[in-house]
Parts: sequence; structure tokens; C-alpha cells
Amino acid sequence: MGEPVSATQAAQVAQYQLGDAVLVRGEGIRSWDDTGREYLDCVSGTFNLLLGHNHPEVMAAVRAQTEELTFASSSFRTGPTDRVMRDLVEMSPANLTRVNLRSSGGSTANEGAIKIAQHHTGRRDVIVPFRGHVGQTIAATAFNGSARMREPFPVHGAGAVHVPDAYCFRCFYRQTPDTCGMLCVERIEDFITYASSGRVACVLIEPISGMGGNIVPPAGYFEALRALCDEHGIVLIFDEIQTAFGRTGEMFAADYFGVRPHMMTVAKGLTGSGLPLAAILTEERMAGWDRSLHGFTHGGHTLAAAAAVKTLEIIRRPGFLENVRAVGAILVERLTALRAEHPVLGDIRGPGLMLGVELVRPDGAKAPQAAAAFQRALHARGVLTRVSEHGLGNVIELRPPLILTPPEAHVIADRFGDALEFLRRDSPRWDAAP
Ligand SMILES: Cc1ncc(COP(=O)(O)O)c(C=O)c1O
Repeated sequence: MGEPVSATQAAQVAQYQLGDAVLVRGEGIRSWDDTGREYLDCVSGTFNLLLGHNHPEVMAAVRAQTEELTFASSSFRTGPTDRVMRDLVEMSPANLTRVNLRSSGGSTANEGAIKIAQHHTGRRDVIVPFRGHVGQTIAATAFNGSARMREPFPVHGAGAVHVPDAYCFRCFYRQTPDTCGMLCVERIEDFITYASSGRVACVLIEPISGMGGNIVPPAGYFEALRALCDEHGIVLIFDEIQTAFGRTGEMFAADYFGVRPHMMTVAKGLTGSGLPLAAILTEERMAGWDRSLHGFTHGGHTLAAAAAVKTLEIIRRPGFLENVRAVGAILVERLTALRAEHPVLGDIRGPGLMLGVELVRPDGAKAPQAAAAFQRALHARGVLTRVSEHGLGNVIELRPPLILTPPEAHVIADRFGDALEFLRRDSPRWDAAP
């Protein structure tokens, strides 16, 4: 391995800004850096370590697979890839009967889903809500629901028709959920009529907008959206890249909201402890297209598929989803209690372990600087969180591995309390920061 690389050397060769710590080990919800410092990973790596770091059963399945076959080209079937596809169809909403396993990441799975919808409908437009995160390839960048992600690039792709999201805490239409008449769905008609090419293929939506700030649409939203899509022959695609496999306390967010999309994309958590694999699930009517139209060298990777088979087995065990709901409820209850004393915690939202804490100024405005200060204070207490909108938003994202235990949930909540007390003591005006 040669001499270790110093921080200065690493910074000199990386083309982007590196993080400070060197992680050397992970186990469950914890990881450690090379100085022995321990972190509670409340963002599950990059929201992908659904079963935490190095889940022993997943690692054993991967090790066993390395003894047999590490990689097979997608021209071949393998035991693990066959099983993943069968299991995904078994677990997902009943109308999703087909799987495309030829991508290894979320961005390319979303692009594949869009291509399938375009191919199937013969139309081209894509509707994406404000703040939606589609991915980081050039096409996905054009589809993302935030101008900041598009601004540096001369994006030439068609892009998306962006529509207001169902963000009730800061409603675009200045309504409240009980009186709004679901304007955020109804007005999509106008976007189709006036802002699209007139040929809309699909709506691509995260059931809970993750990067956008853990935005949870109100009851009835997805029923209305599905009805609108059906009326216009538009394919409704759920991007469940963050929400699938128990994150919401149900197997899929589609189950949590009780609405069946026409397609679904999954990635991140599919392999439990961090191997790359993604899948697109479709209805029967979208089966049978030419596989060369969308596929990548490492799509359907054999080792990742072995990890996925074990992961899917684990999350289907009795009690698994109940634990997610129970520990999520502990966190929400404890954070809600903290809000009574710290009104800077303006909104605490999300089901299961898909949680967001929105920081607000005394006048109710967004407080992104306070969110950044809070994240730093949590980090200093060994709690890893992220801030929405790629660090520039005002929502703390709290999405620990689904194997979190009740005592661990209490430790996390205690540290949230410590961090808030510290900020109040150390910088009394921190919650008024713009
Ligand atoms: C909801 C959502 N969709 C798509 C993506 C893109 O996935 P990937 O980074 O694997 O390409 C992400 C990644 O953060 C995501 O959170």
C-alpha cells in the first residue's frame, strides 16, 4: 500500500474539496476515523447504508459470492441477479411486475425510467417538482428542481417542466392543507397546457423530497397526482432512491402513502451496506424493450446483487419495519419536546427514519446559517447529519440506519439537546441568523 498519504498531499491531488477526517472503520450505526474518534452516522453514509456499516450477514454473503463469481456481464443470468429481480417484484406494489437491473446508481436509474416512459408513450416532457433531486449526470442535472444545480452548466438537454411541490410548511400558493383544494396538483393542468411541449411523458417525483428538505406531501396528494396522470396518459414515476426498503416504516413510500406509481426507481439502500446497485420497476405494459437502450458496465453487478439478496431478506424479517417505526417515533417525540424550549426548530417532520428538522428564525423565515451552525455543533458531538439543498438549505436531515435501537435513538436525541443548549449559551443570537 506504500506510505500513507498526508492531508496536504491528498488536498493537492483531489480536484474538489476533501473532507477533513479519514474514516478507517465502521460497524452498525458507528464509524471511526484514524484518530479513533467515533461518529454516530445519522445519515447512513450517503443515505445508502440502510443496515449500517458492514452488516455482518451482508458482508458474509458478499464474501461467499467472491469465492464463486465476482462479476458477470449482463449478457448472462446469475443466481443473485435473478433473485434480486424476483424479490423486488414480490415486495413492490402489485402492479410493478418487471425489473430493469442494468444501472448501478440512482441518476442513471432515473434516466432509464424517463427513457422507458418516453419510449412507451412516444412523448418527451418530464415534470419534476421544485427542489426535486433527479441526479448528477448532465441530463439529470437539467431535470433537477433547483436552478443552483443547473447554473454552472450550459445544459442543452430538454430539461423538465418544473412545478411547485407539496411543501405545506411553505406553500407556494400560500394555502393551508385543510383549505387548499390540492392546488399543487390542480394547477399542474396549467403547466401541461401552457409550459410543456404538449407532449408530457412522465412525472418523476420523490414521494418525500430528500435533498429538498424532507418535504412530506399531505394526505390525498398522491391520489390526486395519480388521477391527473391517468387522465393525461402520463407515467407516474416514484423515485424511491431514498425512501425505499423500510425507510418510511413501510416497505416503500408507495405503501406509506397507499398509492401505486406506474414505475419506481430504487438504488442506495438496496444493498444494505454500500455496494452500488440500482433498479427500475415497471408495469407489465412497459416490458420487452431492447436492452441495449439503457445499460452500464457495472449494472446488475454480481457482488452487489448478492448483497441485495441478503439485504432484502433481512428487511422482510418480522419486526424489522416495526423497529423503524418505533425508533423513529422516539426521535420525533424527543425532538418535539426540545422544540418547546427551542423554537428555532420550526418543523419536525417525516415518517419512520426519514426525518427532517426545519430551522426557522423568530419571524418564521428560513434559517440556513442556523442549520449550518447546528450541524457543526452536532458534528462536534460525534453526530453526523446533513443540511438540505446540498448544505445551503435550512433543514437538518436525520436518516440513520434502520437497525437503530431505542437506546441509540435516545443518545442521538440527548446530543441534539446538548448541541442546542451549547448554541444558546455560546452564541445567543444564533437562531436569528439569516
Ligand atoms: C432522491 C434521489 N434521486 C437520485 C439520486 C441520485 O443517485 P446517485 O447519486 O446514485 O446517482 C439521489 C442521490 O442522492 C437521490 O437522493
